[in-house]
Amino acid sequence: MSIDAVYQNIQEDLDKVETEIQAVVEVDFPFQAELLRYCLQEGGKRIRPILTLLAGKLFDYDPAAILPMAAAIELMHTATLVHDDAIDHSSVRRGRTTVNILWGEEIAILLGDYLFARAGEFATDTGNLHVVRLFTQTLRTISGGEINQAHNAFNLNQTRQQYIDRIAGKTASLFILSTESGAILGRAGQEDVEALREYGYHLGIAFQIVDDILDFTSTEEEMGKPIGADLAQGTLTLPAMLILERHPEDNPVKRIFESGGGQDDIQQAIELVRSSTIVQECYAIASEYASQACRHLEGLSDRVGRQRLVEIADYVVARKK
Ligand code: IPE
Ligand code: IPE
Ligand code: MG
Ligand code: MG
Repeated sequence: MSIDAVYQNIQEDLDKVETEIQAVVEVDFPFQAELLRYCLQEGGKRIRPILTLLAGKLFDYDPAAILPMAAAIELMHTATLVHDDAIDHSSVRRGRTTVNILWGEEIAILLGDYLFARAGEFATDTGNLHVVRLFTQTLRTISGGEINQAHNAFNLNQTRQQYIDRIAGKTASLFILSTESGAILGRAGQEDVEALREYGYHLGIAFQIVDDILDFTSTEEEMGKPIGADLAQGTLTLPAMLILERHPEDNPVKRIFESGGGQDDIQQAIELVRSSTIVQECYAIASEYASQACRHLEGLSDRVGRQRLVEIADYVVARKK
């Protein structure tokens, strides 16, 4: 399944957002331009700006504010990926060698900062202080989520609620910003803004659960990034939690988390997940979050626009990359 079909009526504006993003590459210093061109070239799914445009379309659509906000959100997302890969010493992103491997971790951190700053400038181009505030709060929440994740690396004693809270911080917060800012900039009423916020939260949780499943079930070729990476980094995700619950005595996740483990243990954990009902169980949980996301849209008056967001929710669960 692809999202191509669901955003026909935003294609033109999505192209404009892309043009804004590509304009970020136009700087006087050739090395900076090279770095920016590299990390902003095509390859990402652009799901967050798509959400902002679709959310905006439900209300009083003002492209002069919505387009820079969508660009701001994609730039913030790209910045978090550049930092995330540096922190994780990851080697592949969007099918290409990471910035940290090509130019080193220092450059990756500085480039991420640069992108955050550019994202902030785009957010101010909306002229709307409310969304600028949400933008900065989101950045705080994502950083907090990543700090929590680093602090809990290789910690086996985490509850499902802690997992949900962690992915809410690192991932769902940016989905909330994507949908809520679209509603705010469309001058939606308080109830509708709240509905889009709830939709974004539940969709973001579903999105990260699926990402965590694909880290076990997909391939590097399909995902454009290494798989088995969460275990290697000591990040306890939902599929790994289910392994621990089902095999409390001896299991590869425990070995990896307690004594580092090796490639064999990672492979064994992947096999355990693939050959059990853990995959279906995790998908059922992700689907439930996606359904909850859609239930929050029921009060919206624009039926066609609402349907597009429902299709995005279906895509988030069905996606293969
Ligand atoms: C990757 O996000 C980071 C997560 C929150 C899992 P995406 O899967 O949206 O990455 P791109 O932008 O399509 O590369
Ligand atoms: C998303 O989680 C992290 C960010 C918020 C940047 P992951 O660590 O699962 O993302 P991937 O799998 O590296 O894309
Ligand atoms: Mg990562
Ligand atoms: Mg992941």
